[in-house]
Amino acid sequence: MIEIAIDGTAASGKGTLGKKLSNKYSFPYLDTGLLYRKVALELIKENKVYTTELEQTSCDFAKILNFKELKNTNLRTEDVAKLASKIATFPDLRKILNNKQKEFNNSSKKKFGGCILDGRDIGTTILPNADFKFFITASLEVRAKRRLLEKNISFLHENDEKCMLQSLINNMRERDNLDGMRKISPLVPAKDAHIIDTSSINAQELLLIVTNIIEGKK
Ligand code: CDP
Repeated sequence: MIEIAIDGTAASGKGTLGKKLSNKYSFPYLDTGLLYRKVALELIKENKVYTTELEQTSCDFAKILNFKELKNTNLRTEDVAKLASKIATFPDLRKILNNKQKEFNNSSKKKFGGCILDGRDIGTTILPNADFKFFITASLEVRAKRRLLEKNISFLHENDEKCMLQSLINNMRERDNLDGMRKISPLVPAKDAHIIDTSSINAQELLLIVTNIIEGKK
């Protein structure tokens, strides 16, 4: 039974790596950020963001969260990401979502012999005994450019593109800080994680580095 834990900053390439590893080894893959994003999206949709009971309401949504609903494209917006990062500081919410991630891991291992999770605290909190731990990062500018490309927007003016890029840089910087500084499960590499900077490598090169580590090749 193999557990693979992938952590890292936003748009560092961890999600693409998770999917590629899942295809290669036929282990189920879970992007755990989607769980936080799903709760954030529900809060926005139900107009519950500016209430005094934000933590309790987040927990209520988390308890009834259904994994089948994680494909919604609205989950990928910057507003949702920002709120996800804010509510990810709530200890009770994390407990509920942690249990869901552990259940996913256990059932995937039973059925398929392995599991791949990506997020912020997988190697440190969710799967502390994972067989392989990777911490993926890249420069802020490279990550913002990747996120912009993912959004697939055709800009009429160069200035609009520059503005959007700057806004992504600002959002990511803010989120990196919040995720890295929070008391509970902050974004830090596990002591035994392989730290990989993808600023100057592409997804295929990253996959090769990671599979060489997993398969014990130099
Ligand atoms: O896709 P991206 O890397 O931009 O973000 P994500 O993985 O979807 O995560 C959104 C937010 O959820 C992060 O900024 C974290 O605050 C939070 N998160 C977390 O706290 N723990 C996780 N295991 C996964 C996500």
